[in-house]
Amino acid sequence: MLKFQTYSLWSILGGLSVLVFIQASPAPAPAPAPVPQVVSSLSSAFVSATGAAASALPTVILDWPSLSDIEKKLGVNNSDLQNVSNSGLLIPSYANFTGQNWNVRFYGLAYKLPNVNTSDLVSLFNALSTNDLNSTQQALLQNRTQDLASIPIPKANLTGIVLANGTDVTNGGIGLTTSDDFGEIDQFVPVSGLGGDTGKVQVVQTGLIDVTGPGNGTALLVPDQGISIVSDIDDVLRITKVYVPNQGLFNSFVQPYVNVAGFPELFNTWLTSLPGVAFHYDTTTPVELTRTYVEYLFSNYPIGSLEMRPINISQPSEVLDARQNSLLKLFQTFPQRKFVLIGDTSSSTLLSAYPQIATQYPQQVQCIFIRNTSSTDPDDKIPYDTKSFQNLSSNQYFFYRTAEDLMNLDIANGQCVNSSIPQNVTFGEQGGILDNGAASFMGRNQLLGWWGLTIVLGVVIGMVGV
Ligand SMILES: *[C@@H]1O[C@H](CO)[C@@H](O)[C@H](O)[C@H]1NC(C)=O
Ligand SMILES: *[C@@H]1O[C@H](CO)[C@@H](O)[C@H](O)[C@H]1NC(C)=O
Ligand SMILES: *[C@@H]1O[C@H](CO)[C@@H](O)[C@H](O)[C@H]1NC(C)=O
Ligand SMILES: *[C@@H]1O[C@H](CO)[C@@H](O)[C@H](O)[C@H]1NC(C)=O
Ligand SMILES: *[C@@H]1O[C@H](CO)[C@@H](O)[C@H](O)[C@H]1NC(C)=O
Ligand SMILES: *[C@@H]1O[C@H](CO)[C@@H](O)[C@H](O)[C@H]1NC(C)=O
Ligand SMILES: *[C@@H]1O[C@H](CO)[C@@H](O)[C@H](O)[C@H]1NC(C)=O
Ligand SMILES: *[C@@H]1O[C@H](CO)[C@@H](O)[C@H](O)[C@H]1NC(C)=O
Ligand SMILES: *[C@@H]1O[C@H](CO)[C@@H](O)[C@H](O)[C@H]1NC(C)=O
Ligand SMILES: *[C@@H]1O[C@H](CO)[C@@H](O)[C@H](O)[C@H]1NC(C)=O
Ligand SMILES: *[C@@H]1O[C@H](CO)[C@@H](O)[C@H](O)[C@H]1NC(C)=O
Ligand SMILES: *[C@@H]1O[C@H](CO)[C@@H](O)[C@H](O)[C@H]1NC(C)=O
Repeated sequence: MLKFQTYSLWSILGGLSVLVFIQASPAPAPAPAPVPQVVSSLSSAFVSATGAAASALPTVILDWPSLSDIEKKLGVNNSDLQNVSNSGLLIPSYANFTGQNWNVRFYGLAYKLPNVNTSDLVSLFNALSTNDLNSTQQALLQNRTQDLASIPIPKANLTGIVLANGTDVTNGGIGLTTSDDFGEIDQFVPVSGLGGDTGKVQVVQTGLIDVTGPGNGTALLVPDQGISIVSDIDDVLRITKVYVPNQGLFNSFVQPYVNVAGFPELFNTWLTSLPGVAFHYDTTTPVELTRTYVEYLFSNYPIGSLEMRPINISQPSEVLDARQNSLLKLFQTFPQRKFVLIGDTSSSTLLSAYPQIATQYPQQVQCIFIRNTSSTDPDDKIPYDTKSFQNLSSNQYFFYRTAEDLMNLDIANGQCVNSSIPQNVTFGEQGGILDNGAASFMGRNQLLGWWGLTIVLGVVIGMVGV
């Protein structure tokens, strides 16, 4: 029998961040963390929605650990945390030119990383069968799960620096606005001494000087004009298979990351051929996997800015909001640039967020490319909805199968469609098992079940199919 417990690791993080918060402002009792309740109701919604069909789900979340299990396992308490020094994470970001200065986005997280036994952390995820792993896989698992024990520091006081060619241009640092209740920072800071807009992307180093953790990052000085490639990562740039949960987990935590064939070459071609090109990677993978993703991306794809899932997300609609907000921020920061948006049919949020931003800012969207994941991977049996594309011109979007389909498009001159590839966009729900005549079996509940599964998995360990 399936048993769905009601708490996730994120609840723990929420709960513990409240502990830290209590410490910072001892006077009135703070409001309880909202996260556990939300996760709890989501999980029960999932259980009731799937009901009898649950046993047919390709589920991996048997015996999910409860809050107290996790507390016991991690064995982290308030006084332990007092002795742990502050760490910082800066997510690779972008800057725009104001005519005088560069406006640099400081985007990241202040956190404490308690000394957690990682084998204990891994053992929480029954879903992840870690028996029979060879030494390479063990090392990858260890490396990628380490940051999952990060405990956010609310209201952290941070000082940022910017280094251009190794020289600090900030005269010892710029005070940043304190982190929010979830330890997150996200703010634009005007920085002088970085020169002007050269028409090409320049890379500068950023840092947080008052943390003992790594706290270093990069920022791209992006020219006013040019083409920005905005790309999802999972199942667009690397083979994750989010639509097969067990494999999605395994591919995310245990296996070396594998490129989607031809994409590094395609991006490299665009790097050298598109005018003023800049790359931006947008994922709903949680922020704890940032270092893993950055290391993978920057050794396979052009250096770029990155957007991770905000830490305080607890409901599906908030994942969509996060996608929309990150696109909005990008479009507003670079009002004269043209954007090429890349996603895949297994990411339902992009299937609605991309057409929506194209409707809102028609002048700024150059092309939308959606990988038809099921056309090359029969394992993808998840239906997807193309209705949001109805209001767009069919010249503007293209459902591709392979990198080759995109290779020879003249994007700079507005060619988005490779006419040799048949298109079958129905502006409704399509694809997946529905196409195999099993619609009565895979009904709405089953679909909701997938959402629930994705969310439960997503909130806890970063599956990204939403
Ligand atoms: C916190 O946990 C440590 C072990 O990690 C233990 O020695 C200590 O007594 C605990 N403190 C409290 C207040 O529970
Ligand atoms: C924290 O550090 C202090 C001083 O180094 C030490 O006396 C104390 O036992 C430590 N507390 C814990 C919970 O490790
Ligand atoms: C982690 O803890 C388990 C028991 O909870 C123990 O068997 C194992 O040796 C520990 N690993 C490390 C690296 O300390
Ligand atoms: C470990 O397993 C992976 C995936 O099956 C394989 O690619 C790799 O070669 C193995 N490494 C070792 C050291 O056996
Ligand atoms: C993970 O591996 C990378 C190199 O492959 C290394 O730079 C990094 O320090 C490792 N991180 C952890 C937490 O072990
Ligand atoms: C940040 O600085 C303010 C003012 O000095 C202080 O009250 C607050 O406790 C600091 N925040 C943290 C998390 O230490
Ligand atoms: C760093 O130096 C290179 C080569 O001299 C120069 O092209 C670039 O503009 C410099 N970067 C910044 C941010 O000043
Ligand atoms: C931060 O510094 C480490 C050590 O020098 C380096 O390996 C890593 O690439 C840097 N990270 C970024 C995002 O620049
Ligand atoms: C999450 O944090 C962001 C940024 O701090 C904030 O705008 C948003 O309202 C928060 N969402 C929730 C659900 O608390
Ligand atoms: C730079 O980005 C900021 C933040 O998004 C935006 O408010 C501002 O209008 C942009 N400046 C220019 C010149 O586009
Ligand atoms: C995706 O590919 C599948 C299999 O080739 C096809 O049935 C489906 O219609 C395609 N979807 C779109 C939107 O073209
Ligand atoms: C087009 O999509 C519909 C709905 O998903 C499907 O029934 C049909 O088989 C597809 N046709 C082709 C040629 O792929």
